[in-house]
Amino acid sequence: MKLATVEDTRAFGRRLAGILRAGDLVLLTGPLGAGKTALVQGIGAGLGVEGAITSPTFVIARVHRGPVPLVHADAYRLGDRPDPRAEIDDLDLDASIEDSITVVEWGEGLVEELGNDEYLRVRLDRLDDDTRVVELVPHGGDWAARTRRLETT
Ligand SMILES: Nc1ncnc2c1ncn2[C@@H]1O[C@H](COP(=O)(O)OP(=O)(O)OP(=O)(O)O)[C@@H](O)[C@H]1O
Ligand SMILES: [Mg+2]
Repeated sequence: MKLATVEDTRAFGRRLAGILRAGDLVLLTGPLGAGKTALVQGIGAGLGVEGAITSPTFVIARVHRGPVPLVHADAYRLGDRPDPRAEIDDLDLDASIEDSITVVEWGEGLVEELGNDEYLRVRLDRLDDDTRVVELVPHGGDWAARTRRLETT
């Protein structure tokens, strides 16, 4: 699907929030500036959580309280660490994963097991005309059925 403007990306995030529930893991992939954080802003708005969703500079994960809490993690800086998995474990993200919706930027290859290998991958890409395209790639669980539901809403 094509996302012409940042507002379209946020609107898509709000729609995506409609199929999310506690315990979910969502991995956002795509290059720098693809719109991953913008998408999380839309998800946060759709879920009705508190606090501004930003690109954390020093923080790797932030919890936004709401009807279902949103854990927003950005693993970008973990890439340089000698043992990124240990850093992820130190975050204790899985302590709350069952009660929260966990959305991770740059988490591919690092956090899949947090969701017992059931997760939704959201691929964002930036085209030459500066628009974005988004693709949902379901992995396990009932993600395939849920992404189909999103297409019909
Ligand atoms: N269609 C679009 N969707 C999303 N962002 C867009 C779009 N068009 C332009 N932009 C701009 O691109 C930038 C996307 O930034 P954002 O922080 O969301 O990207 P990101 O993928 O999280 O980057 P990073 O890898 O640094 O975390 C914003 O400045 C936004 O205004
Ligand atoms: Mg970002």
